[in-house]
Amino acid sequence: MTATAVSTEPLVDSYGRVHRDLRVSLTDRCNLRCTYCMPADFADWLPGPSLLTTDEMMLVVGVAVDLGITGIRLTGGEPLLRGDAVEVVRLITSLPKPPEVSVTTNGLRLSQLAAPLRDAGLTRVNVSLDTLDRQRFLELTKRDRFDDVIAGMKAAQVAGLSPVKVNSVLMRGVNDDEAVPLLKRALSEGWRLRFIEQMPLDAGGTWDRSSMITADQIHAMLSEEFTLTEKPGRGSAPAEEFYVNGGPETVGIIASVSKPFCAACDRLRLTADGQVRNCLFARDEMDMMTVLRDESLSPDQIRTEVERRLRKVISDKLPGHGINDPLFIQPIRPMSAIGG
Ligand code: GTP
Ligand code: 5AD
Ligand code: SF4
Repeated sequence: MTATAVSTEPLVDSYGRVHRDLRVSLTDRCNLRCTYCMPADFADWLPGPSLLTTDEMMLVVGVAVDLGITGIRLTGGEPLLRGDAVEVVRLITSLPKPPEVSVTTNGLRLSQLAAPLRDAGLTRVNVSLDTLDRQRFLELTKRDRFDDVIAGMKAAQVAGLSPVKVNSVLMRGVNDDEAVPLLKRALSEGWRLRFIEQMPLDAGGTWDRSSMITADQIHAMLSEEFTLTEKPGRGSAPAEEFYVNGGPETVGIIASVSKPFCAACDRLRLTADGQVRNCLFARDEMDMMTVLRDESLSPDQIRTEVERRLRKVISDKLPGHGINDPLFIQPIRPMSAIGG
């Protein structure tokens, strides 16, 4: 496909937010069933033909990079279940203006893939880990794979994919006694830990605000054991970072619900089935698939239309997600299908 120049104006929305970060879901599939993400018996995967091929995905990614995207986060489902995940990284890092490529993963395949991913140009990984207890991990994820996650994180460190960031969602009565142990372990292993408020993105719609562990509660739990001091310079990052006992180690708290960071949001998302979303909580999606597969269009016309649609999605972006509005309606698709 010949690459015509797309306009170089950056992706700026009507609130002046410049978009630099594209989150690309490589698959909606997952080999865990975290309770806050999917029902235990979930198997309603997108059918193969409705998934973007790698060429289709790369066309959208290439246009987005031309429009000023400088960071690509590969997400899922579990992104490393896509058979050509390493090749996707290599293709993105081989673009003329290569963006930084990172992955958010459950870690299960990192033992095999950490070194090949690094060789393909991946810079770092974020791994989800909500508990240090094997039995609890089984209850939370419905799979007995705790040891594999730990091995995957070790492999990432050995491969130099650093820092390894760890995401932990604390849930009342489930793992909220693990805030301090998780941080102690993170400090001893060299993981950069962030706690995340549970968001209304589960498939069953069972999220309940009153039982959510809030950022303030997490801060209070950690402060019983550690001295936390705010680290300045957060930028557009969702995590508020704190030095632990004076630093240099830090812990992050992602307060998506109680302290939304929408005003600084610079993200857009491409789902595995070719839909672009301007927010995790958007109720509308912009279809790219029909454009990408429109045989009446030339490659240049496809690129032009992809650009037009990306700009339209950005110009339609709302100021915030509205979770705290009584009229908030949860997105129809769960996190695994949207792409974390
Ligand atoms: P880095 O700090 O750059 O590694 O990225 P990150 O923290 O954004 O990435 P990660 O994929 O690890 O996501 C951490 C948490 O932030 C997850 O719970 C995400 O779902 C949440 N998150 C990511 N993007 C958004 C977003 O656009 N809005 C909200 N509210 N939460 C987000
Ligand atoms: N609330 C908060 N975080 C979530 N994640 C998945 N579902 C939710 C939710 N409902 C996290 C995972 C992973 C990242 C992609 O998003 O733990 O770290
Ligand atoms: Fe899989 Fe991630 Fe959802 Fe857990 S949170 S079930 S690891 S997609």
